Amino acid sequence: MQEITCVNDLKSLYKRRVPRMFYEYTESGSWTEATFRRNCSDFEELLLKQRVAVNMSGRTIRSQMIGQDVSMPVALAPVGLTGMQCADGEIKAARAAESFGVPFTLSTMSICSIEDVAAHTNKPFWFQVYTLKDEDFMRRLFERASAAQCSAIMLTVDLQVMGQRHKDIRNGLSAPPKLSRKSVANMLTKVRWGLEMLGTKRRFFGNIVGHASGVTDPSSLSAWTAEAFDEALDWHKIRQFRKMWDGPLIIKGIIDPRDAREALNVGADAIVVSNHGGRQLDGALSSIRALPHIIDAVGDKIEVHLDGGIRSGQDVLKALAFGAKGTFIGRSFIYGLGAAGEQGVTRTLELIHRELDLSMAFCGRTDVKHVDRDILMVPRSFIAEYN
Ligand code: GLV
Repeated sequence: MQEITCVNDLKSLYKRRVPRMFYEYTESGSWTEATFRRNCSDFEELLLKQRVAVNMSGRTIRSQMIGQDVSMPVALAPVGLTGMQCADGEIKAARAAESFGVPFTLSTMSICSIEDVAAHTNKPFWFQVYTLKDEDFMRRLFERASAAQCSAIMLTVDLQVMGQRHKDIRNGLSAPPKLSRKSVANMLTKVRWGLEMLGTKRRFFGNIVGHASGVTDPSSLSAWTAEAFDEALDWHKIRQFRKMWDGPLIIKGIIDPRDAREALNVGADAIVVSNHGGRQLDGALSSIRALPHIIDAVGDKIEVHLDGGIRSGQDVLKALAFGAKGTFIGRSFIYGLGAAGEQGVTRTLELIHRELDLSMAFCGRTDVKHVDRDILMVPRSFIAEYN
């Protein structure tokens, strides 16, 4: 692999190697994309305090997320259509995460099914659940996750309806990709991607096709979301889902302290502060700006994680300093996967690991579990007032 020094290098390679339709699916937010951009740019407003002449030997960034050992507090987030970014993408990403010692979260909207990923990995992974109207499908989904020995369920609660992403409409996003003159012309320039994709049979939404009823066009994400997702989801229904699963439950998609308290009350084990990568409500607060409010509201009662905008170990460190016990990377690992498959995901993890370790050391800390707000300089304007 050419010299890769940071996650952005992987992004450049990814852009060259993967069809535009899938690159743009990743690299977009809803409507004006303001929240998508701020998820990253707000990290830059936080400054780190450098300390010197502190004994930095014997450092560790090993930690735990929901009681499970992790080699660093960074998990792979659920990302729909991962198996379109690279043939068998979910299996490759899960294997990379497993070897690195961090959790992998499989999306309901994955290409490789739960059973398929379980058959090609050795350790339990986490499974992300979207709430569909089809109750029978939902019940079976929890049973399938249990049979596959998933070690946590992550319930995503911020996608009852789907935010509009202009690029997906223009590109006619689907899995497998629809063959228009434009998409074929673009795919023909992505030789390696195409050959690998021709060599796999995993090209459909593996958890859905053949499992869910009432879905007329399962190739189009936006069409089947509109048809099948449960717009009527509420905390009462979430409580019912809690009863269907007796393992660890993570609730993802919390950006308001009131919702954080609800998640606590339904008995979640952790919450993920997330605005869905800026793909849902355009104009919502960035995840890192929302985090301190959520920590103040529930941080001493429930484990709080964060996703959105993490492209480096320094970003991870800032989230931990605010009190997050874990973080998730979505786009950062997809860049690696699209650039170089399983090896590319490993490279993403190596980069973030090193950045986190060294930056923590520069802040004069030697154990990631003891990182706190004291290493941060936070501009007064950063902590927005809720009213
Ligand atoms: C689905 O999770 C999406 O954001 O595309």
